[in-house]
Amino acid sequence: IVLKAFLFPSSVLIVLLYLGVQSTERDVKPGALANISNVQPKTKMQIDAQYAIAISVQRAQCTDVHADIQNVFSNKDAKHVKDELSKGQKCLLCTDSRNVIAARPNRTTKEHSEHVLLYPLGESPMDKLLEQADQNSCVVFYSYNSPCVKKCIRGEDNILNGLSNWINTRKNGMNAFVFNEIWQKDKKKNLAEEFLKINAVVPLYRCKITSDGMECWKCVENNNVDTFLIKGWHFNKSFFKPTMSNQFIILQSTLSFQ
Ligand SMILES: *[C@@H]1O[C@H](CO)[C@@H](O)[C@H](O)[C@H]1NC(C)=O
Ligand SMILES: *[C@@H]1O[C@H](CO)[C@@H](O)[C@H](O)[C@H]1NC(C)=O
Ligand SMILES: *[C@@H]1O[C@H](CO)[C@@H](O)[C@H](O)[C@H]1NC(C)=O
Repeated sequence: IVLKAFLFPSSVLIVLLYLGVQSTERDVKPGALANISNVQPKTKMQIDAQYAIAISVQRAQCTDVHADIQNVFSNKDAKHVKDELSKGQKCLLCTDSRNVIAARPNRTTKEHSEHVLLYPLGESPMDKLLEQADQNSCVVFYSYNSPCVKKCIRGEDNILNGLSNWINTRKNGMNAFVFNEIWQKDKKKNLAEEFLKINAVVPLYRCKITSDGMECWKCVENNNVDTFLIKGWHFNKSFFKPTMSNQFIILQSTLSFQ
């Protein structure tokens, strides 16, 4: 329903027109994440592996349905990032546009990939990415799994300061933290409480590829965590059928960044 621009830019336009919603300057359709699935590293068993990636693009890439992601993150770039990650390297502005950072968890130290990108504060890969971003940029941080509660939200090496460091450098900028899956070991935890902590710093989204392309939903609305979203029901077409009214509300709220 929302942010479908990720994979199929044209469908957002159709949905927007269908709902009669006028697109405004602050509407976000992060084309920035289009083809992110071309980066997704696999394990030896061909299972999707944890990684984190952040990209900085001109705001128009996140707001203009006609913007072409290929100009700032081509399929060739996506392949290059994937190859680097597969070799055990991290990507430090490793594409021609120098607008992407990415990492897998560190095999030696077990440092989590989100943490690798956000630390050490002041000289992290994220700081390097932000140096060349300005207030007109749109910065999207994507982690395949949700940040794990034990280490990344509650642990000593939690990522919250790293997220604040990011947001403090661009308070009025367009920023988003996106994840795809709920981290396996967190499925039984009270994630609502934990996700509020992240969303208090940076707007939190969950995106998944569905039969209609990439769909993204905002995790928190008016301080309420969307529990259907945590369970993944929004992405299950045979279970969840948005009505015109909630579609509209979700579309509106998801597209307007704080
Ligand atoms: C995504 O990748 C596919 C296959 O590589 C390509 O056909 C498509 O044009 C790409 N989409 C965007 C929005 O770049
Ligand atoms: C993992 O951590 C070790 C120790 O800090 C470091 O030498 C190595 O470069 C790191 N690996 C990657 C891929 O960053
Ligand atoms: C989707 O919903 C249907 C109907 O409730 C259910 O049978 C199915 O298991 C669900 N699929 C997933 C992947 O949750």
